[in-house]
Amino acid sequence: MQQQSALFLLLLAVTSQGVSADAESNWNDRVKVFTVATEPTDGYARYYRSLNVYDIKGTTLGLGEEWKGGDMQKPGGGFKLNLLREAIEPYKNDPEIIILFTDSYDVIITASLEEIAEKFKESGAKLLFSAEKFCWPDKSLADDYPEVEGKASRFLNSGAFIGFAPQVYEVLEDPIEDTADDQLYFTKIFLDEAKRTKLDMKLDTQSRLFQNLHGAKNDVELKVDLESNQAVLQNVDFMTTPAIIHGNGLSKVDLNAYSNYLAKTFNGVCLFCKENLLDLNEQDLPVISLALIVTQPVPFFDQFLEGIEKLNYPKENLHLLIYSNVPFHDDDSRAFVNKYGEKYASAKYTLSTDELDERQGRQLALDKARTHNSDYIFYVDADAHIDDSEVLRELLKLNKQFVAPLFTKHEELWSNFWGALSEGGYYARSHDYVDIVKSQIIGIFNVPHITSIYLVKKTAFDAITFKDSEFDPDMALCQSLRNAGVFMYISNLRSFGHLVNADYFNSTVTRPDFHTLFTNRNDWAEKYIHPNFSLQLNASYQIPQPCPDVFWFQIVTDAFCDDLVAIMEAHNSWSDGSNSDSRLEGGYEAVPTRDIHMKQVGLEQLYLKFLQLYVRPLQERVFTGYYHNPPRSLMNFMVRYRPDEQPSLRPHHDASTYTINIAMNRAGIDYEGGGCRFIRYNCSVTDTKKGWMLMHPGRLTHFHEGLLVTNGTRYIMISFIDP
Ligand SMILES: *[C@@H]1O[C@H](CO)[C@@H](O)[C@H](O)[C@H]1NC(C)=O
Ligand SMILES: *[C@@H]1O[C@H](CO)[C@@H](O)[C@H](O)[C@H]1NC(C)=O
Ligand SMILES: *[C@@H]1O[C@H](CO)[C@@H](O)[C@H](O)[C@H]1NC(C)=O
Ligand SMILES: *[C@@H]1O[C@H](CO)[C@@H](O)[C@H](O)[C@H]1NC(C)=O
Ligand SMILES: *[C@@H]1O[C@H](CO)[C@@H](O)[C@H](O)[C@H]1NC(C)=O
Repeated sequence: MQQQSALFLLLLAVTSQGVSADAESNWNDRVKVFTVATEPTDGYARYYRSLNVYDIKGTTLGLGEEWKGGDMQKPGGGFKLNLLREAIEPYKNDPEIIILFTDSYDVIITASLEEIAEKFKESGAKLLFSAEKFCWPDKSLADDYPEVEGKASRFLNSGAFIGFAPQVYEVLEDPIEDTADDQLYFTKIFLDEAKRTKLDMKLDTQSRLFQNLHGAKNDVELKVDLESNQAVLQNVDFMTTPAIIHGNGLSKVDLNAYSNYLAKTFNGVCLFCKENLLDLNEQDLPVISLALIVTQPVPFFDQFLEGIEKLNYPKENLHLLIYSNVPFHDDDSRAFVNKYGEKYASAKYTLSTDELDERQGRQLALDKARTHNSDYIFYVDADAHIDDSEVLRELLKLNKQFVAPLFTKHEELWSNFWGALSEGGYYARSHDYVDIVKSQIIGIFNVPHITSIYLVKKTAFDAITFKDSEFDPDMALCQSLRNAGVFMYISNLRSFGHLVNADYFNSTVTRPDFHTLFTNRNDWAEKYIHPNFSLQLNASYQIPQPCPDVFWFQIVTDAFCDDLVAIMEAHNSWSDGSNSDSRLEGGYEAVPTRDIHMKQVGLEQLYLKFLQLYVRPLQERVFTGYYHNPPRSLMNFMVRYRPDEQPSLRPHHDASTYTINIAMNRAGIDYEGGGCRFIRYNCSVTDTKKGWMLMHPGRLTHFHEGLLVTNGTRYIMISFIDP
């Protein structure tokens, strides 16, 4: 019995599948869908994709033909009608056949043919045109239109219409020049009451089937299902769900934004991201021009270049160009090309001395990409740090004309894209901006503005211009792409990298990166904190103890030591080693050293933050139960020992609960002798290691002395914590 019912269910499933497949093919037999497109633009691909997801068979007229309909921005389009008339000729006598015509570059379909046909039939018309809020191209005809009520759309738009084949054929019967305006043509027929009645021609004034977006921003709302990110566009004036969405006039950017969700782009996960991917063939990888653009002083330029060098892509397929107009970065740019250039297909730089402005620099990179016959150009600005060496391959796979990885500033909403544009063409926040930036929705998104890092396919090279614009080069680029109908996609499928913060970056100070802990904590830590730092926080990690209650940690990198020593030496305000010390409150130092305080070089606050972030957690590991957050420290200073100055320090206690002592250079190499001796235990630490920190109690038990430096210079960084 059970078996039987299972079989029955199976049969039912097969049958219903069969029926629906039949129904679909039936609908394609009954509704003939036409569009006109002369070029397979991104918009055309999007239109076609929407047909596919609803199993609609479409016919494209004019593909590959020269566009004869005049300038798309101006009246024109008679060409479309002439193509359509010819194409539907075979159906002209068949009242069972429905013809749906739409534009393609700025149209998406969001429902099945069955639903479309249903909505058409509900209209009661034999010929139904989409309607919009503006009377175009001849405004003077506005008053001739029948009145409409409330927020209904009064005027005909010829970008989308539907009708029974005989009526569609009939409405096309009058001759029209290829360059004449199609909208005006239909408008005149519609305004002729006799013709209108004869054709049973209506406008879809309440957006039951068609939604024109221009001037309708407040009429529609994207309703996104939060689970699946699937969406429908609702006309909230009439509570209709139009099936065909047309980004007419100035509403292309709006359509692009809606199309990120409409037509089954998501299904809990991003479906669109998995479509039409490029299979990378290792034997035949694309040739790419890699353009590094340096237009402002940025911190961590060395790490930026490291990210480039680590890209997982054969260098012989990359043409490298570094454009710098920043004197501060010229040397490193030149050095990078000189050091690594040989491995690349070609490597060049232009420096600030070449006096190219940013537009010229970016243009030069594009011109070179053409000369090299590159398949792509990959622009990377110097504040865009690549963290994922697969980024180039991952972007290539997405197979877009223009695609960028999402880069954000750490823990900020600042990113390299805009979700929407203001009226003036500047930034405006979109409904999904925060979700995308925080990766609460994962996918690839068509957006109006992208900067900092982007990959452009050869087919879009001609669309790009950085010039001839009131805008900055980034905005000029994006504007040119929007005008050319090249879609700009941002991907947050992975975390590919981040933007460093160049605000407040002062490149004129000694070792400027060192000063940026507050503005770029993560990059700062990557450059300056010892890679083993975190290991030591693990309770099972044994902390070395060279003397009783003297603990030894790996805390900072060589770069930290070198930069800090350089800062101190550049400042060169070493104290004279006498007991009189005007830097102290009492003006008296009992156990003086030759030193410079962090206060003197403007790094006191930074160092206190360093103590809080990195020293305190290590202290808590070894002196259990002592929690002082943040640690207090009035004295943070670098000591210089050398034979001809002050080579050692007599035994003393420190005015601290605990003291830290970080070795800034190498024993036995940069100096000889030196070290720290704890007298009570008769225990010395002499083989101190650069970047390692000693931590010990300040008073009573840890009476200590600085051992004699016999040659060279020894630097140590001392803090008396919680005095
Ligand atoms: C940058 O540093 C220099 C040298 O210390 C200083 O004179 C200048 O005022 C600083 N500029 C800014 C904007 O902080
Ligand atoms: C980190 O510690 C491991 C042992 O725990 C050591 O082998 C490695 O060299 C250390 N890394 C660095 C950069 O010192
Ligand atoms: C701590 O170290 C142990 C032993 O090396 C390891 O098994 C454990 O995963 C570590 N814990 C953390 C949180 O890293
Ligand atoms: C201190 O240690 C040194 C060598 O480690 C040893 O020679 C000396 O005798 C010790 N002194 C005392 C007082 O234990
Ligand atoms: C001091 O170090 C320098 C360079 O490391 C070396 O040439 C010199 O011989 C050393 N002097 C002494 C007295 O050890």
